[in-house]
Amino acid sequence: MVVTTGSDGITPRDGWSSRTAFILAAVGSAVGLGNLVRFPAEAGANGGGAFVLFYIFCIVLIGLPVLLSETLIGRHGQSSATESVRRMAAESKASRYWEGLAGLGVISAFMILAFYCVIGGWVLYYIGVFVGDLFTSGVTGGALAGMSAEDISAIFPALLENGLLMTVLDLVFVVITVYFVARGVSGGIEIAAVWLMPAFFILLLGITIYGAFGGAFSETLTYLFTVDFTKLTPDVMLAAVGQAFFSLSLGVAGMITYGSYVGRDVNLAGTSAIIAFADTSVALVAGLCIFPIVFAAGLSSEGGLGLMFDTLPHAFQSMPAGSVIGLAFFIMVGFAALTSSVALMEVPTSWAMEKFKTRRMPTAIAIATLAGLLGVASAYSMNALSGFHPLGFIPLFEGLGIMDTLDSVTAKLFMPIGAILTAVFVGWIADKRLINGENGLDGGLHKLWLFLVRWLCPVVLTLIVLFGIFG
Ligand code: TRP
Repeated sequence: MVVTTGSDGITPRDGWSSRTAFILAAVGSAVGLGNLVRFPAEAGANGGGAFVLFYIFCIVLIGLPVLLSETLIGRHGQSSATESVRRMAAESKASRYWEGLAGLGVISAFMILAFYCVIGGWVLYYIGVFVGDLFTSGVTGGALAGMSAEDISAIFPALLENGLLMTVLDLVFVVITVYFVARGVSGGIEIAAVWLMPAFFILLLGITIYGAFGGAFSETLTYLFTVDFTKLTPDVMLAAVGQAFFSLSLGVAGMITYGSYVGRDVNLAGTSAIIAFADTSVALVAGLCIFPIVFAAGLSSEGGLGLMFDTLPHAFQSMPAGSVIGLAFFIMVGFAALTSSVALMEVPTSWAMEKFKTRRMPTAIAIATLAGLLGVASAYSMNALSGFHPLGFIPLFEGLGIMDTLDSVTAKLFMPIGAILTAVFVGWIADKRLINGENGLDGGLHKLWLFLVRWLCPVVLTLIVLFGIFG
């Protein structure tokens, strides 16, 4: 048996204690604000059923093959993301510069982490609002009793104006995240996933069933699953591919990193399929959870971040036991966001531990501090620093503040480019013997996977990048 050692070269390397732990952690990474905030908002903005159908198509044909590619690089390398790619490149007699694809991923993960924790802080704020509300509204009534519609609409803008409050909440979220990352893979990251993910599923199902009885469930079914193919425009298709990628946490070396803690005995193809299936199911159920509540209150299904932070609080007001459901809802969102931020922080942490031969605890704290600082800048980019446009000189990023720049640069450029390089590396560059032994596929499925990784994924992803730049 090959025993891989940790960054000091002596102690055995930490890893998942079981296949189930890996699945829960990977699902925890994938299921996050992307499923609960972005998916319903994108489906709403892009015409419902046609978007949903095409999204599922993208998950299976593009997301899943890249997910398998990332996990197999990591499992083979048993090391940080860059080192894992470097090893596979060396064994394939390819240039060591391929490790740049993982380097780009490490940078992206850090950038996403910084603003993801700011949004995590907003979720904490809403948990606070609904805890306080239990005392004023009681448990049986609707939420936010006595507040007028204008008062409720003012909650979110007031938060965005308050840079200091957002800073404090961001730092609290970063501290909770680093608590798990600093304790290691089996002793921290895995613990978070094993406790929080089942709790998340229970809350999601509970709220969905409650909403199905009280809310506009059949209207939601029509909305999400009636496919009107005339609505399937190129814009809608590109939105669906982008969302599929973000939701599966691809293109930022995250699944290379988590894959590196997987044991040799795990079948990667089957496991990746479970992860993709779980992530997609959660996105769909999130739609079935949110829209009945929104429609029952007679509100609109559109509106980006406002769907969660503005529309839903209005809807909870007119719902029986809305204060309890509102609180449960934001706790659920907080759990999902936390397991994703933990995954995002692990990518730069494991990279830095390996690179600088440092111990986990101080490395994680250093990364958290840097991400916290960038997060503070993001928080102020919505108020005091709103006039500062870091990449304003590039037309693509014109007029964007710090937070939107971090989001746009990663979503439009770094993530798809990282994923293209991953697909090309695994499909064309890496030695076929390394791949064949690692992916757990044979026969026709193996051929199909190779075809998708070699052709479909790079071509479609290149289109996304070009469309993002010129479209
Ligand atoms: N998939 C996460 C979500 O749906 C967000 C995300 C994108 C992510 N890239 C990641 C999480 C990398 C962990 C690692 O919210």
